Parts: sequence; C-alpha cells; structure tokens
Amino acid sequence: MNKLITFEGIEGSGKSTQMRLVGQHLIEKNIPLLITQEPSGTDIGRKIGGILFNRGHYYMCAETEAFLFCAARAQHVREMILPALKENKTVLCDRFSDATYAYQGAARGLDPDFIRVINDYSAMGLKPNLTLLFDLPVEIGLKRAADRDNLLKDSSFTDRFERESLKFHNKVREGYLDIFRSEPERFRLIDATRDVDTIQQEVLRHIIEFIEK
Ligand SMILES: Nc1ncnc2c1ncn2[C@@H]1O[C@H](COP(=O)(O)OP(=O)(O)OP(=O)(O)O)[C@@H](O)[C@H]1O
Ligand SMILES: [Mg+2]
Repeated sequence: MNKLITFEGIEGSGKSTQMRLVGQHLIEKNIPLLITQEPSGTDIGRKIGGILFNRGHYYMCAETEAFLFCAARAQHVREMILPALKENKTVLCDRFSDATYAYQGAARGLDPDFIRVINDYSAMGLKPNLTLLFDLPVEIGLKRAADRDNLLKDSSFTDRFERESLKFHNKVREGYLDIFRSEPERFRLIDATRDVDTIQQEVLRHIIEFIEK
C-alpha cells in the first residue's frame, strides 16, 4: 500500500512545524522519505504559488484559483509524489486535495462535484492514505500565522489567503471538518490548541502506527 500522509488544517494550525519535527524523527530512523508541500513542491509549483499568494491578485476568481492549485498538484504528483511512492518511500505532504475542497469548495463556494473532478484528474486519482487534520479556532491560527510573519519582519509576507476574513477561515475549518466526518477512517483529528511537544507526540504515534501497519 502507498504511504501518502497529508497534513491539513487552517492557516497557522502548525502543519509545517509538525511536519518538520516528524520528518527529522523519521530521517533519524532511516525511514525512506519524501517531505514536500503544495503548491510549492516543484519549481513549476513554486511559480504557480507566486501567482496564487500574491496580494495584488485580490480579484482572482475562484475558478482560476482552483485550476492553479490543481495545475501545481498535477505537476507535483507526476514529478515528485508518484516516483517517490514507486520507490516505496513514505511521503509527507503539507496540504493536498482536501485543501482544494476546504478552500475553493467550502469557503469559495465552488461546486463540490467540480472540485472532485479536477482534484481526481490532477492527482491521477491518488488519495492520501492517512491525513492529519490540525484543528483549532481560526482566531488562534491566524494570530499564530501573523506573529510568524511579523517575526520575518516582512509584512508583505502576509499572503492573499491570510488576509481573508474570519468568516472565510471559519468556512475553511468547517469544510475540513466535513471531510473528516465523511471519511473518519482516513483522518486523525488533532487538537492543535495544545503545545508543540504534546502535539508532536500524538502526531508521531499516529504516523509510526500507520507506517508499521
Ligand atoms: N502548538 C503550537 N503552539 C504555539 N505556537 C505554535 C504551535 N505550532 C506552531 N506554532 C507557531 O505558529 C506559527 C504557525 O505555525 P506553522 O507555520 O507551522 O503553521 P502552518 O499550519 O504551517 O501555517 P500555514 O497554513 O500558514 O502554512 C509558527 O510561528 C509556529 O512556530
Ligand atoms: Mg505552513
């Protein structure tokens, strides 16, 4: 069975922090691994991300947004993820198709059937085998993301999505929880309000359990 593990959740929920820590742990254990992220897991994806996150593109329509994320995913799956899975590597991916459902479906309001078609096509039908959903109130996540961006001393770092309303981010959160409720066996719901170490222990437990299964 493939070992595609995805990390999902709203802005600032701690996906990248936890993935970095779990990645270090698995590398120390000599587990063959690809650590990657969407949409910037490839050179082409990074360029697409530049268009997607640019604050000047505030007028981008939802359909363009959905196609661009799927374009990045199409490249990512074919160039990086499928070859790694073929080599029997465990793949840790920071955001994947569920993000398209949550952001462009639940929050932007695009038809879920349309999202399903472009998701399946871009990912060649590939589905995550395990998804960790980092859940917390949007006010906390956005505050963490804003503090992180301020630390980088570059307010232009705040991207087009982080600048969206609380209402938008609450729809994203609910969208994720809806997918979790419809596919509970694939998901592990993580209470992301806790401290980094406590969450890391739980994340590691889920991942090791899954890898050794
Ligand atoms: N459990 C935690 N408690 C407090 N702060 C945290 C916790 N986890 C991460 N952080 C901090 O919150 C900020 C956001 O974390 P991180 O970048 O990992 O989130 P993310 O989910 O990857 O966000 P994005 O969706 O914007 O990529 C970082 O500054 C990180 O150090
Ligand atoms: Mg991140």
